Amino acid sequence: MKNAATGTSARPRLVWITTPDNYDPHVQEQLKRGGSERLDMLTAAGFDVRVVHSCDIVPVWNGRPRLLHGEEDLLARYAGFLVTSWTWDPAIARHIEAITRTVRASDCVLLTDGTLDPEAFGLDKLAMYHHAAALGAPVLPTVSVPFGRYARRALDAVRTQLPPGPYVVKPRSMAMGYGVLKADTVQHLGASIDLMAPGGLGCLVQPYLPDSGDVRVYVHEGRMIAALLREPAGQTYLANVSQGGSGSGYEPPAEIADLSERLARSLHSDYLCVDWLISGDSYTFNEWMTVSAAYEDLPPSTRKLVAQALVQYINRRLDEGGVPRQRTHGERC
Ligand SMILES: Nc1ncnc2c1ncn2[C@@H]1O[C@H](COP(=O)(O)OP(=O)(O)OP(=O)(O)O)[C@@H](O)[C@H]1O
Ligand SMILES: [Mg+2]
Repeated sequence: MKNAATGTSARPRLVWITTPDNYDPHVQEQLKRGGSERLDMLTAAGFDVRVVHSCDIVPVWNGRPRLLHGEEDLLARYAGFLVTSWTWDPAIARHIEAITRTVRASDCVLLTDGTLDPEAFGLDKLAMYHHAAALGAPVLPTVSVPFGRYARRALDAVRTQLPPGPYVVKPRSMAMGYGVLKADTVQHLGASIDLMAPGGLGCLVQPYLPDSGDVRVYVHEGRMIAALLREPAGQTYLANVSQGGSGSGYEPPAEIADLSERLARSLHSDYLCVDWLISGDSYTFNEWMTVSAAYEDLPPSTRKLVAQALVQYINRRLDEGGVPRQRTHGERC
């Protein structure tokens, strides 16, 4: 371990940066009371885990990158950083970007990148579609909505580029089913765009796939190690477990396992969770996530396997260190 070599704490240090401002304070209280399986798992695996709120951090450049938390610089000691980067608030998004850029510029490791280009490929669904489609993955026709008073121009593109509704409107960069809206007609779609555009989130429109589930394929070191099927409850349309969907173990077809592995390889990612929308027999690429993707909804045996892979991956990234990894990426690009 690098930190052992430098004579600091024998327990590898992880700093988990979260954003409580994403949640209603009552939900935040419930989350706190419920505890976190991931936090417990990482602590039991021997990590010294510290949870810090993004609002309490001030990123600074002064001779070197610093993340000030009160008087402490979180980058002063070697650590791996897990940054939960989704947010509905554009101002928070800019702040989190400043935090992740500062971590990347330091000797510490940003564990939540794990792809070639964390800024675009870590969050932006549109960038993911372009990349996945170029690799041969099936991708839904998708319209990206322009800003402000030009936003309704997306409706003409929807009429010519997409099959007739229903449609799904969703933020380009978000998680947990936040802001994912089903619009039955172009009129519904227009009204949804009117409401979303002033918020500045940036959103996409796609055909709505009926009776769809969401399959997550976990790829570790180039190989699929587990898969999870998430299904919406009853007549609802969101498969996210946090939105009432349910999860169960799953065996995807070889072609989907293979495409997921190819995606991970193409991103040089040793730990990637690839999500596919499944409707009848057809699979469509939806998105990918790295270490922050939930594994807690897997059945117990595979859950343990994925948790072990996660720990192994984090330990390897910490062994590699921050700066050398960036150089390696540059060479590979
Ligand atoms: N085009 C679509 N057709 C039908 N259902 C969809 C479509 N897009 C999304 N959904 C449903 O909405 C859910 C959330 O959408 P999506 O995964 O794109 O957003 P997310 O907020 O990024 O979620 P996650 O937390 O999984 O990252 C999906 O799991 C799926 O159930
Ligand atoms: Mg999703």
